[in-house]
Amino acid sequence: MKTTNLLLGLAVGLAPTVASADDLNLVCSADIVICELIVERFEKTHDIDVNMVRLSSGEAYAKLRAEARNPQTDLWWAGSGDPHLQAANDKLTQPYESPRLSELHDWAVKQAENADYRTVGVYSGALGWGYNTEILAKKGIEAPQCWADLTDPALKGEIQIADPNSSGTAYTALATLVQLMGEDAAFEYLAQLGANVSQYTKSGSAPVKAAARGETGIGIVFMHDAVAQADQGFPIKVIAPCEGTGYEVGSMSIVDGAYNLDAAKTFYDWALSTEAQNLMPEANSFQLPSNRAAVASPKAPSLDDIKLIDYDFAHYGQTDVRQHLLDRWSKEIGAAF
Ligand code: F6P
Repeated sequence: MKTTNLLLGLAVGLAPTVASADDLNLVCSADIVICELIVERFEKTHDIDVNMVRLSSGEAYAKLRAEARNPQTDLWWAGSGDPHLQAANDKLTQPYESPRLSELHDWAVKQAENADYRTVGVYSGALGWGYNTEILAKKGIEAPQCWADLTDPALKGEIQIADPNSSGTAYTALATLVQLMGEDAAFEYLAQLGANVSQYTKSGSAPVKAAARGETGIGIVFMHDAVAQADQGFPIKVIAPCEGTGYEVGSMSIVDGAYNLDAAKTFYDWALSTEAQNLMPEANSFQLPSNRAAVASPKAPSLDDIKLIDYDFAHYGQTDVRQHLLDRWSKEIGAAF
């Protein structure tokens, strides 16, 4: 590493050595396994050292916000799209039009257009839940197929979902319910659901990992995170809610004032390539890739088979809209349960 070489050179009285590798400070908001794999493969093929920290999407946004005057992060890869759009809104991230934009699906380009190219879509996936078939069978509880089923008192203490302040998954759930039911009805629903929730986790995928380990009956998560547990042999069944559901456009953004801008652009372009996006299934990540030529795993839940709402990303990624919903959630749901 640069600093080490320099100090070593000074200590032994040699002229300072100049390390060849550049640095890149990366915040990764996907699962830790893909975060580590993507960094490893990138470093193998580029002369850039990556310092990576894994944070949930809401936490990553908060980090960029806190560092606005003195950015410590160059690039934010992955995490659900709304906090990326909020960062764009707040001009915490900078416009960049990758030469690979023309290779991407329309939904990924639309995400970029919604943010004046301050972000871009890297993958997509729908929201749902995974349930532990053994726990529900043992308790004689019928498997919930619809949002409405999740408020059944028989499920008391059997549901986990993340806190939308830290988790992009849980914010997607909050915005989805508001779009499906209207805001007041969504908060009434969340209060009823709260009676069945044993824990609001920090990370979005934690609830279904807990369900896989038998710690809870149901985890409300992105469906691909439930598939990942089922694929590892856990007794998890994946559900797309019958009333319809929202989805994410997992995104990537370059920080405004990024110190290592060239390295950030190099990573950005590479992350949009088929080479990088085809790595996802290797890390048990079953999102749908944004590059049209990348191969979606056959295990990835197809958006064509799911009743999707017309999720209004531009609206729910606005700073005042997201802040309002989070404040109301903290007051009416987070503080009450
Ligand atoms: O685990 C992967 C994943 O679900 C991504 O698809 C998503 O963008 C991210 O995690 C959201 O994580 P969190 O809810 O912790 O912000």
